[in-house]
Amino acid sequence: MNKKINNNKETIEVDFGYQNVSAEAKPALVKDIFDKVSNKYDLMNDIMSIGVHRIWKNRMIDQLRPYQGMRLLDLAGGTGDIALLFFERIGGSQNGQAIICDLSEQMIKAGQNKSIDKGILHGISHIVGDAEHIPLSNNSVDACTIAFGIRNITDKNQALAEAARVLKPGGRFVCLEFSPSPSPLIEKLYEFYSFALIPIIGEAIARDRESYQYLVESIRRFPQPESFAEMISKAGFGGVKWKPMSGGIAALHSGWRT
Ligand SMILES: C[S@@+](CC[C@H](N)C(=O)[O-])C[C@H]1O[C@@H](n2cnc3c(N)ncnc32)[C@H](O)[C@@H]1O
Repeated sequence: MNKKINNNKETIEVDFGYQNVSAEAKPALVKDIFDKVSNKYDLMNDIMSIGVHRIWKNRMIDQLRPYQGMRLLDLAGGTGDIALLFFERIGGSQNGQAIICDLSEQMIKAGQNKSIDKGILHGISHIVGDAEHIPLSNNSVDACTIAFGIRNITDKNQALAEAARVLKPGGRFVCLEFSPSPSPLIEKLYEFYSFALIPIIGEAIARDRESYQYLVESIRRFPQPESFAEMISKAGFGGVKWKPMSGGIAALHSGWRT
């Protein structure tokens, strides 16, 4: 975040991919991207990651260690993959509760349709809301997850503080996110795939090159996993640890609310 003075008025500038925009403008830009891609979002995830995002998400659920009766908040939950995997692990939606909170109404709608298609009608709630101002009370959830969401959030420290606020003491926090620089062994190939191919795939499948250009740029702007782990600790989490996945393309961070 950078402070800038324009016409005697102080504005805070943040990154939006490789552009700088005002902090007030960013949420609407992000929401617009996800509203636009919502109907092709799941298909694009499978194509772009050749299905690997499913493995990463399963590892996230391993790290979460769900139990029956758990009340899970999935921030930036999009079309609901994490909540659906959570229910699979605990033996069905009658055995727990999942709240999906996402800024994009269209992603939430796509997620609602997906859960209905899977026959999940109870135990799940969908909220259009901002992770920086979670519409839940203090100490009200047992676990909080966020998959590929945090890098899109304007004030990441504020969202982490909010996650800590709504979690019960001892509650688990697990975050899955891309890392800005993978292992040097795959860096060149990854760079080519990200910048040359992903926007083309975005254009061909979702008819939206720009949104996928933003996706790859936003990954490069996200902090290194070590720095992000420090941000999580500072927000009020203990036992913070992280592990790289798939040669450092993504990282899984976790901690518990102190
Ligand atoms: C890349 S998608 C991830 C969706 C889902 N978690 C998954 O892993 O498939 C990022 C999601 O973050 C949501 N998002 C971005 N900023 C947000 C915010 N401030 N609060 C809540 N959701 C946000 C977007 O609307 C989008 O659905």
